[in-house]
Amino acid sequence: MARVALVTGGSRGIGAAISKELKEKGYTVAATYAGNDEAAAKFTAETGIKTYKWNAADYEASKAGLAQVEADLGPIEIVVANAGITRDAPFHKMTPEQWKEVIDTNLTGVFNTIHPIWPGMRERKFGRVVVISSVNGQKGQFAQVNYAATKAGDLGIVKSLAQEGARFGITANAVCPGYIATEMVMAVPEKVREAIIGQIPAGRLGEPEEIARCVSFLVSDDASFINGSTISANGAQFFS
Ligand code: CAA
Repeated sequence: MARVALVTGGSRGIGAAISKELKEKGYTVAATYAGNDEAAAKFTAETGIKTYKWNAADYEASKAGLAQVEADLGPIEIVVANAGITRDAPFHKMTPEQWKEVIDTNLTGVFNTIHPIWPGMRERKFGRVVVISSVNGQKGQFAQVNYAATKAGDLGIVKSLAQEGARFGITANAVCPGYIATEMVMAVPEKVREAIIGQIPAGRLGEPEEIARCVSFLVSDDASFINGSTISANGAQFFS
């Protein structure tokens, strides 16, 4: 039977590319989204991938949603914690609300997504966890104290989970995308974006599919001994 893979924030941007890639590789995929019903309906119509609506920042909603996915499709053996938001502002202008929103979604959301299904992975002695971090978690970024903190936190999560899960056949790894051509990056003011592209030796933004293929490798049987690692895919912008 096909393994079940869950992708949070899986109906748009990098998450949508991951959902599609995993479906193509033969997994049964469920994609979650937080609010954009229209985009989710369009995504399902185009791809046939089932979408589920809940807020990753809410533990109880995540727990109930994950249980529903498992009731519909079977045990989740692969989880890709991808859902993320930005609330960029220079630190002196950043509000406590901007800090909290990003922490709740990008960091606590990762806990909420993995924690309820972790016992099942341990019992079944198999699991693949991938967390989508960011180059900005590795290097920091002007106006992203909140976001960079969460993305650096992701690396601590996978390194710790890797140690806990290894003897249960569970791997936990991170992918650190650089600047990828998604709505999130397109929302950066054009002048700033052009300056960023100037700092990428590849001379271009990445494509969501270039990140999806990293995830597809990490969840495959070929990656069974890769655990606690980070794949950086950033066009040579930064080496960690
Ligand atoms: N480095 C150094 N200085 C910078 C800077 C940078 N990267 N960006 C802006 N500045 C400077 C400005 O030139 C300005 O200088 P002056 O005061 O001397 O003019 C100062 O910092 C601050 O400018 P403002 O007060 O006008 O800033 P603002 O409150 O209008 O905020 C901003 C603007 C939010 C910082 C905007 O420039 C921005 O969005 N920057 C992009 C941040 C970024 O890279 N975000 C990544 C989003 S994509 C993503 O997160 C995906 C991923 O994982 C890679």
